[in-house]
Amino acid sequence: MAAEVSEAAAPWLPILYGSQTGTAQEVAEYLEGMVRRRGFRPWLGSLDAFPLEALPLTGLAVFVIATTGDGEPPDNMKKAWKFLLRRALPGDSLAGMKFAMLGLGDTTYEKYCAAARRLGARLGQLGATPLISAGYADEQAAGGIWQEVDTWTQALCQALLPLSPMAQLAATDDDMDEPPYIDDTPVLEPPLYTVEVLPPSTSVPAEQQGLANFYAPLAPPDAYLTDAEAAAAATAAARADRPPPPPQRMPFRATLRVNARLTSAAHAQDVRHLELDVSGMGRARGGCGGYSAGDVAVVHPQNAPAGVAAFAKVAGLDLDATLRIARAPPPPPRSAAGAALSPSAGASEDGALRQDAAAVAAEPSPLDALLGGSSGGGGGGAAAAALDLPSVCTVRELLTRYLDILGAPRRAFFDKASLFARDEEEEEKLLDLGSTAGADLLHEYAVRERRTHAEVLQDFPSCRPPLARLLEMIPRLRPRAFSIASSSLAHPGQVHLCVAVVSYKTRYKREKAGVCSTWLAALKPGDTVPLWLRPGTFRLPRDPHTPVILIGPGTGIAPMRSILQQRQFERAAAAAAHDGSGSSSGAAAATGTNGGSAAHTAATEQAAAGQNGSAASTATDNNDDDASPSSEPPDTLYFGCRHKAHDFHYAAELCAAAAARRLRLRTAFSRDAPRPGGGKWYVQHRIAEGAAAVARAVLARGAHVYVSGSAQSMPRDVRAAVAAALVSAGGLSNEEAERYLKAMEREGRYAVEAWS
Ligand SMILES: Cc1cc2nc3c(=O)[nH]c(=O)nc-3n(C[C@H](O)[C@H](O)[C@H](O)COP(=O)(O)OP(=O)(O)OC[C@H]3O[C@@H](n4cnc5c(N)ncnc54)[C@H](O)[C@@H]3O)c2cc1C
Ligand SMILES: Cc1cc2nc3c(=O)[nH]c(=O)nc-3n(C[C@H](O)[C@H](O)[C@H](O)COP(=O)(O)O)c2cc1C
Repeated sequence: MAAEVSEAAAPWLPILYGSQTGTAQEVAEYLEGMVRRRGFRPWLGSLDAFPLEALPLTGLAVFVIATTGDGEPPDNMKKAWKFLLRRALPGDSLAGMKFAMLGLGDTTYEKYCAAARRLGARLGQLGATPLISAGYADEQAAGGIWQEVDTWTQALCQALLPLSPMAQLAATDDDMDEPPYIDDTPVLEPPLYTVEVLPPSTSVPAEQQGLANFYAPLAPPDAYLTDAEAAAAATAAARADRPPPPPQRMPFRATLRVNARLTSAAHAQDVRHLELDVSGMGRARGGCGGYSAGDVAVVHPQNAPAGVAAFAKVAGLDLDATLRIARAPPPPPRSAAGAALSPSAGASEDGALRQDAAAVAAEPSPLDALLGGSSGGGGGGAAAAALDLPSVCTVRELLTRYLDILGAPRRAFFDKASLFARDEEEEEKLLDLGSTAGADLLHEYAVRERRTHAEVLQDFPSCRPPLARLLEMIPRLRPRAFSIASSSLAHPGQVHLCVAVVSYKTRYKREKAGVCSTWLAALKPGDTVPLWLRPGTFRLPRDPHTPVILIGPGTGIAPMRSILQQRQFERAAAAAAHDGSGSSSGAAAATGTNGGSAAHTAATEQAAAGQNGSAASTATDNNDDDASPSSEPPDTLYFGCRHKAHDFHYAAELCAAAAARRLRLRTAFSRDAPRPGGGKWYVQHRIAEGAAAVARAVLARGAHVYVSGSAQSMPRDVRAAVAAALVSAGGLSNEEAERYLKAMEREGRYAVEAWS
């Protein structure tokens, strides 16, 4: 038998993910166990959390990469992606390294799995070679992503075996023909958390409830940092030469001023105009203190009280109990079969594979210094991961603000839940749902039906994991991004949002509501909204007179409203300075806003959006496609919705701007009247109709084109319409138009901010 060596001597294997909404992270977490059972020492974390200087040393890495936006990499790999793209990196930076790439995507998007493909290609340019063929898992596949994930995982596991210490086992085993048996059935790992219920009379020192939690991703509910505290924390970090705490660790408590329905009462979809007071919000919150047009507000939501109560009831939890939560101490290092092999050595001739395991175990790996103390949040690193929950809170707070109890349970939930089922039949069913063979069932039961954690626990009454285990099994409540719908120049100290309230029925007619949008819609003026701000995709031209073509149907209007306000403000301010009258009130007047009368804005919009049907009779488009370039306003907006009278967001101010010739407005109402010859009007049809103006603005006047809204077919259809305009009215060939658009995209002159 091969010598048994400690887990610490197993070879490192980074499992790096880029994940926007958690799926790639879930898959990476699933791979972590697989890899560990095959004798490796996984380092699990996002690409941005990984010390990239360790990459050339690892010899082998696994990537699980989702795609977001319009073919964009997820936020938690953007920093690493930017680094890897640096031209200065030598072409042999990763020579000798092998990698396994799994892309997650959705074939309804034009740029299917684009982030994984681009990362794979870049790793190749830097000298790395694939260990196995890349896998691409499609959300649209019959059973969701899991079938492809499982097929790819099997190939990975097969390719890993000869590189792993398991190979040593096989090499020293008498029976050389038999591959080593690896048991992948779920086992109860040592707990990650401890939970103590505090007696009702316990008084918790203030510092444990507030700043003591600073290094948890979210401060506890009533202890969000004041702006001064956040700034002090950032300064302290700078003095100690530490990176500033990320903004999500210290969300700002914005105060809601206005919450008004934009759509008419007769319209099924509820869309809200929210105005939030962020005055006093400093740079420590992610660059605020004058945000830019196109920036994004990231909101930390709350679960609805009914959902919280339902979960507590089914899980047998007392909502008012106060808890002390801590990270469980790391378990003593386990014994793992095998030795510290470099994966690249494993790929070479057998000499390296036969090293004496015990001897190798004694050698410190150069990677230990880089990876040992920097766990990516999974179990791989030596250092205990930071607590990602408040250390003291009530069960109600925990369920309301921190755990995604209303989200659909992931596959790993079922695996772990099976370990707690007392009923054999339930145990089997749960195991099935967590297994390769159960991928279709999982998709049908949990994903498609958006079954919540409470609903699943209800369906499996013998399965009641203790709260400490539920903390491992249920992901954290995810913050939601919203494009800011205002300009900080036109509305200093305010952030406006335009939010569609998510509400739909599943295939089995079960009613579902979006967590964040439903919570926001129910808020009253004076309520607080924890948020921080971050840059969006659009980078406006410096000169506000450079033409822009904005295409923002539905809630895609949000960043466009922000851009329009900012550019109009800047033009008016420049004109005022030129006249010598230079005052910002003139600029505010020119933007069509009053710089802060929220009630006014909301009332005007409600009226215009059709609660009294007035928008139906409002003139909209100013049809000047043939106007001479000198008289054209620099801003063009394409807006689309179903009905002019019901869901034409911000109709009053847009129509007023069009009437005053500050804006070229093009609208497409899909359900009001058909196009000549039949078919619904969408924004791409208006672009085709005004092809000459589009081509002139883009080709002759250097216009920037920005698209925002639904991520599915709209961005693709719009791009095709713009390309067609460059051909039909701009005189370019198809190939030239494509090349031109690609160059625009590279320069940021054509950009998309899209969401589902
Ligand atoms: C950069 C960026 C900017 C954004 N800007 C805006 C904005 O300005 N305005 C805005 O309203 N949103 C915007 N979003 C989207 C926003 O972040 C949220 O995704 C949205 O509000 C839904 O969140 P929720 O918590 O209410 O819904 P969740 O609880 O997250 O539920 C949404 C999920 O429900 C499911 N679902 C929704 N509808 C259906 C359906 N009909 N059938 C089946 N399943 C369905 C889908 O799985 C979907 O992912 C933006 C997103 C990004 C990334
Ligand atoms: C807003 C949004 C944009 C997306 N854009 C793309 C895309 O351009 N290409 C693609 O293949 N998939 C796209 N997808 C699908 C995701 O990549 C897929 O759902 C993936 O499983 C999500 O993984 P994550 O949860 O780890 O982010 C998009 C999904 C969303 C919600």
